[in-house]
Amino acid sequence: MKIAVITGASSGLGKEYAFATANSRREIDEIWLIARREDKLKEIAEQISKKVRILALDITKDECINEYTSLLNELRPEVSLLINNAGFGKLGNFDELSTADNGGMVRLNCEALTVMTSITLPFMKENSEIINTCSIAAFAPNTRMAVYCSTKAYVLSLSKTLRSELKSRKINVLAVCPGPMDTEFLPVAGIAPGSSHTFDTLPRVNPSVMARKSLKASADKEGVYTNLAFYKFYRVIAKILPHNLVMKMCGA
Ligand SMILES: NC(=O)c1ccc[n+]([C@@H]2O[C@H](COP(=O)([O-])OP(=O)(O)OC[C@H]3O[C@@H](n4cnc5c(N)ncnc54)[C@H](OP(=O)(O)O)[C@@H]3O)[C@@H](O)[C@H]2O)c1
Repeated sequence: MKIAVITGASSGLGKEYAFATANSRREIDEIWLIARREDKLKEIAEQISKKVRILALDITKDECINEYTSLLNELRPEVSLLINNAGFGKLGNFDELSTADNGGMVRLNCEALTVMTSITLPFMKENSEIINTCSIAAFAPNTRMAVYCSTKAYVLSLSKTLRSELKSRKINVLAVCPGPMDTEFLPVAGIAPGSSHTFDTLPRVNPSVMARKSLKASADKEGVYTNLAFYKFYRVIAKILPHNLVMKMCGA
């Protein structure tokens, strides 16, 4: 049985990944949707024609990770696509944010992604794919998003290294780097209209388009994917200019 595993599948980009995977990946027999809110996952599953397994799990919790591990060991599926998409951010200076939020971003965006990958890899064969949802925040640090940017820099770095290491196993790893999307991410991050000049002015990325195009980029074995000319240009600028200058220009 060939499966796709998608974390953070109850809303936003993850929900769109669920639809886009169902529509574009004929070889996949079953899609496993992971997030904490079971009701949202059920609503999404009802709109998908493929078989779906709902896993209402908090992937920052050991007992949930153990449940996922046990299921893999019991069913022994071939995971042909792993999409590590769950993540959250918070806007604010480091010392204004709570310890729970600062630590929580690292636990979900970095630790859970790493653990999910480590557990899932033994179930992946040649020509399978890992997609890690990163962000344009990975390209350069930004004030008022210190921890979030750092977690996404970790995801970008891990993805590039893993891609190189897994080449011999013919497993591709893609880091997907969206700009701001109008999903639950923004209210969760405390980003409301007027709270950040940068976020107010940045062009929005459509999550449905992002999901479809990045799945195509993954199938084409690309390593990093960003859409919109504006963010492709930002990626280049962030490579060339000193990050202190980028932070001054782009401060959130
Ligand atoms: N929106 C943006 O502006 C933007 C820009 C660049 C990158 N990103 C990245 O895109 C990814 C998806 O974000 P989004 O924009 O789609 O935001 P979103 O709508 O808030 O989606 C986040 C998803 O993660 C899940 N999640 C959160 N905590 C979890 C936990 N402990 N265990 C399991 N699942 C958990 C949420 O579901 P439950 O609450 O049901 O658990 C939800 O399905 C994130 O990695 C984010 O950093 C977003």
